[in-house]
Amino acid sequence: MARKRLTSWNDKRVVITGASSGIGRLLALRGASEGARVALVARREDRLREVAEMANAAGGETMIVPCDVGDGDAVQQCAATILDRWGGVDVLVNNAGYGGHFRFLEWDVTDIERMVRVNFLGTVYWTKALLSGMVDRRSGWIVMMASVAGKIGVPRESVYSATKFAMVGLSEALSIEVEDSGVHVLTVCPGAIDTEFFSELDRERMPEVALRSMIQPERVVDAVFNGLAKGKREITVPAMIACAYGVKAVAPAVLRSGVRRSTRARRD
Ligand SMILES: NC(=O)c1ccc[n+]([C@@H]2O[C@H](COP(=O)([O-])OP(=O)(O)OC[C@H]3O[C@@H](n4cnc5c(N)ncnc54)[C@H](OP(=O)(O)O)[C@@H]3O)[C@@H](O)[C@H]2O)c1
Repeated sequence: MARKRLTSWNDKRVVITGASSGIGRLLALRGASEGARVALVARREDRLREVAEMANAAGGETMIVPCDVGDGDAVQQCAATILDRWGGVDVLVNNAGYGGHFRFLEWDVTDIERMVRVNFLGTVYWTKALLSGMVDRRSGWIVMMASVAGKIGVPRESVYSATKFAMVGLSEALSIEVEDSGVHVLTVCPGAIDTEFFSELDRERMPEVALRSMIQPERVVDAVFNGLAKGKREITVPAMIACAYGVKAVAPAVLRSGVRRSTRARRD
């Protein structure tokens, strides 16, 4: 089947989770500036209002949807509100998520469960709520904001890595399941991006090389828009990092020692 390309955002009905800051905020502003109707999903309503004001001032149309994506019932209610208003959704961007830069032994099980609920199940809840409508209309796009940490296990981010591996697995398999129904799934694997994702403490502890190689979120947004326009199924940003996936496949020991070296914290 020919790849489904998203070449015009004009009048598309778009849901973006995690739209109150960072990558999601910029995706929302870009989508709105290209004529999309955008539902802004996150917990901080004040921040969503700021994004909505900026998007509306640029001629966009937005809907504010305060929601904790880790709460399955809340997601169902929010999705129903959006569907009532719009009648359907063309693009779902599963972007909400947070990091946790600790060793596995430092985590409480409750905190692990919470991260799995938000980073992974949040994606499941939103996709469950909106995918069947896309399949019925034989048209839709789903963007999964995973991570390089969903392709390569990252020490001191073991739980986060696990949630993103789960997301990549879901995304890869789903992409094949739904492509004949006219729904395109794009997996996005960003490297280190300069957003509120990293606290001041994270930045202090971060290895020098990671801090230096951090890129601006605008590059991820450009890559998502280009990727969808070209019908790509997976992108890594910056693209160079994807070479490491090849090294992992053919020389896992080499990659492992590289990861070990490059993720050594500056201070614990
Ligand atoms: N920055 C990076 O280096 C990097 C690298 C790879 C992948 N990513 C992924 O990219 C995505 C966006 O991250 P970012 O860098 O843009 O970080 P960010 O600026 O911290 O944005 C995270 C967004 O997720 C939302 N969110 C967090 N928990 C939520 C919850 N329980 N319910 C609803 N929304 C929630 C936040 O909104 P509220 O707090 O208002 O709810 C915020 O809008 C995440 O999935 C992250 O894992 C980031």
